[in-house]
Amino acid sequence: MTGQAASGAAQDVDWDALREAAVDVMRRAYAPYSRYRVGAAGLVDDGRVVVGCNVENAAYGVGLCAECGMVSALHAGGGGRLVAVVCVDGDGNPVMPCGRCRQLLWENGGPSMLLRAPRGVVPMTEVLPDAFDDGDLATQA
Ligand code: THU
Repeated sequence: MTGQAASGAAQDVDWDALREAAVDVMRRAYAPYSRYRVGAAGLVDDGRVVVGCNVENAAYGVGLCAECGMVSALHAGGGGRLVAVVCVDGDGNPVMPCGRCRQLLWENGGPSMLLRAPRGVVPMTEVLPDAFDDGDLATQA
């Protein structure tokens, strides 16, 4: 499947390259407490690739997921929309984003963003069905 077919983006998705970027950044994860490293890589609609890794903390609850770093890099690098994302575990295998990070991906990629899930490439509408977003906020304006 290509990003063009599913999202209308003017580019195909090189899933192998995206996964390599996720594996590369996963190796820089700071996960001394869980020992569970995560890397995330996203293709942006202007062709950039943004990455992030998880960063844990002695105060466990303030640790950052890999997707948080990736989304911060998206905005720090000029913004844009995520077209395709892959998250990998310490073995380099695709892993599903946690619930909070699915919301982050929805905000920055929308319904057509593609995720390389363990079961294959899926759109965000399958990753986070019936999502809450800014459209809900607008109903109370
Ligand atoms: N983690 C992520 O980075 N992303 C996810 O979507 C799931 C969980 C991290 C958080 C924590 O550092 C470690 O994985 C174990 O939960």
